[in-house]
Order: sequence, then C-alpha cells, then structure tokens
Amino acid sequence: MKKTKSELSIFYETAHAELASAIEMLAACKGTNSPNQALGYFMHAKDEYNHAKFFFNMLSKRGNIASTEIARDFRFTPPSLLTKGYISHKGFLIDTMKLKNFIAFVYTNELLAKSSFENILNLVGRSTEEGKKISIIMKEELRHHGMAKKYFLSHYSALQPWQLMIYRTKETIYNKGRKIYDANLKFLDQLLTPLYRAMAFLAGTIAKKLNLNEFRRKGKNLMNISSFSIL
Ligand SMILES: [Fe+2]
Ligand SMILES: [Fe+2]
Repeated sequence: MKKTKSELSIFYETAHAELASAIEMLAACKGTNSPNQALGYFMHAKDEYNHAKFFFNMLSKRGNIASTEIARDFRFTPPSLLTKGYISHKGFLIDTMKLKNFIAFVYTNELLAKSSFENILNLVGRSTEEGKKISIIMKEELRHHGMAKKYFLSHYSALQPWQLMIYRTKETIYNKGRKIYDANLKFLDQLLTPLYRAMAFLAGTIAKKLNLNEFRRKGKNLMNISSFSIL
C-alpha cells in the first residue's frame, strides 16, 4: 500500500506537468504566425496530451486499488494546474516570455522530464507494459528537446552551450522550488484541517441549539417585530 501511495503522488504530479506542457504548447501554436512553427507546436502538444492521458490512466489504476481515504487526495481538478504552479497565474509562457527564453525553457524542461522518467521507470519496472510505454515517452521527450535545441542554435547561434547550461540550472532550481512549495502546502493542509473540522463542528452545534421559530413569518405582523430581531 505504501508503494501505491508513493506511485499515486508521483503519477499525480507528472500528469499535471504533462497536461500543463500540452496546454502551453497549444497556446504557443495559437500565438505563432509561422505555419511551420504552428505545426511543430501542435505535434508537440499532441504528444504531451498523450503523455498526460497515460499518466492519468496509471493514476486511476492505482486509485482504484487504494483506500478511499488515500485516493481522494489524488483527484484531479483543472484549477490545481494553477494552484500547484504548473501554469502561471500571470499567463501562458509564450505570452509572458521572450521567444528565445521560451525555446530555452522547452529545451531544458524536456531534458529534465526525460531524466525524471528514469525514476518512474525504476518504480514500475522496465520490462512491464507500463515501463515499455514510459521508455517510448522518454524518447519523445528527447525528440522535443532535440527540436528545441535545433531551433535555438539555428536562430540564436551567437549563444554558447554554457548559456544553455545556465537556463538548465535555473529551471532545475525552479522545479525544486515548486516541490518545496507543494510540500509546504501539504504541511499546512495537515495542520489546518483539524482546525477547520473543529470550527465546522462548533458551527453545527450552535446551529442545532438555535431556536428557529423566530424565522416563521406566517401570520406575523412584521411591523410589530422588535428592531433587534434578526428576521
Ligand atoms: Fe511529455
Ligand atoms: Fe515533452
């Protein structure tokens, strides 16, 4: 059961990341004036949607065998893409970044995605059906990385490989930051949930003791009701 819980958590986060990439790529597709670029972004978005679908399937398989108590923490709702920081409140990356930075972002994140799949591969086993599918996904991430690299080096050839390394380090730090932020949210949730429950219990107890007869208006002359009444 412990393994299922850690798998749920990893697949849940990965499905978010993949879906966010798909949406970002669609936004980029919509924003470009170049038909070639639009096709590239569109095909990339299609791959990312397929990756997200695969991780949601793996999530739902584990969710079915986990207890309801555990599984309900891993229900997906679209707003969590924003609250978990996978999509920024400020807008899509293509709108908030310079094109050069956007391509560098894709270049570095595709490589990071590929290396994070190594861990998932170890978790599910390389020779399983899921493992084989993850290996295919890893190849697709490398292809995305290669496409971004090609574009980057042909359009910004003055930039040196070490500058791309800086982008990569920046993104690695940012990804770690998001994990810390998420862990803090979970910690706060654990801390505040008993408080919310105690407040709800208190409110329920008070509501039960209230005399609701005062709320019955039938047959009452409202002009005769005290000005202190809550009616
Ligand atoms: Fe992906
Ligand atoms: Fe990708």
